[in-house]
Amino acid sequence: SKRIGILTSGGDCAGLNAALRAVVHRAIRGYGWRVFGIRDGSLGLMNRPLDYCEFDLSVASGEMLRMGGTILGTINKGDPFAYPMPDGTTKDRSAEFVEGYKELGLDALIVIGGDGSMRILNKLCKQGGVPMVGIPKTIDNDVAHTDYAIGYVTALGVATEAIDRLAPTAASHHRVMILELMGRDVGHIALSSGIGGGADVILIPEIPYSLEGIVAKLAEVNHEGRNHALVVVAEGCKTETGLPVTQVQADGEFRYGGIGQYLAARLGKMIEAETRVTVLGHVQRGGTPGMRDRLVASAFGVHAVDLIAQGKMDRMVAWQHGQVVDVPLSEIAGITRAVDPFGTIAHTARGLGIYIGEMKA
Ligand code: F6P
Repeated sequence: SKRIGILTSGGDCAGLNAALRAVVHRAIRGYGWRVFGIRDGSLGLMNRPLDYCEFDLSVASGEMLRMGGTILGTINKGDPFAYPMPDGTTKDRSAEFVEGYKELGLDALIVIGGDGSMRILNKLCKQGGVPMVGIPKTIDNDVAHTDYAIGYVTALGVATEAIDRLAPTAASHHRVMILELMGRDVGHIALSSGIGGGADVILIPEIPYSLEGIVAKLAEVNHEGRNHALVVVAEGCKTETGLPVTQVQADGEFRYGGIGQYLAARLGKMIEAETRVTVLGHVQRGGTPGMRDRLVASAFGVHAVDLIAQGKMDRMVAWQHGQVVDVPLSEIAGITRAVDPFGTIAHTARGLGIYIGEMKA
């Protein structure tokens, strides 16, 4: 009988508890193992006393499917190799992590994380001889080799609903509504929800744009008889000249809060319509997981435990073409799954007449 540990790492999202639940079911029912939940990401193994709990089937109720966030907690800035200390320095706490793992007597560790935390933890696990299996999660959906990371589709639903709610007020006031969505490096949420919500302009980090291009699209909308419009922008977008938004100053004093504010200020001087900005933020991460995330998380959890049973370690579970598969963790490290500027989704947006910037083939 094995003892396995599980932790959630990096930013939270909807569906993490569903994955935890699936791991508990599979490990206890399927294999008769014991499952230990590590609290606050890697911190639970670095802290003394160790911060963990043992899961039994009572925690694996259907409620876990409906619950947002992670019952284990997570921390964003807890890199064990460079742990931030109160005095501003960093400390290598990787040895404490490995000792904690051994103290708990674990046989393997399941890490639910994004690309960054999975890379760090895999390095740590390799160094410490800890067998690890990864489960991808991030609303940004930028983990390589998987069609879905947990949390993405729920975030898409939230973003699309936000557009749905902005459309009538845009129409009532004849305004150009700018919606800034999450997506630190990539534009999956912005592009897909923008299509789903009927946006006129969608800007993503993967495709350069021009203010003139946006203005031309807004003029076209106007010409076609509509006096309001929807602009969706991923937070990771830079200015039209490629500068980080926070470094741009409008009049020598004012610093733009984000790309949404930046666009409103610049477009405001080029168009007649009023603009308003909504920054959706962490609303996209919370709430009840949608059906797709419940299913993907459940499938990932079951498969992760099966991999440990088969002795297949240092792998990440993934979703490819309707199947759960697994890929070597080494193959996902450092690779960002970005929007393909010429792929199906971008092509669809162009086909619908949406301005998504200009990119030469
Ligand atoms: O990676 C997920 C994500 O939600 C990004 O979209 C966003 O840029 C970032 O996390 C926000 O992180 P934090 O919760 O630390 O503000």
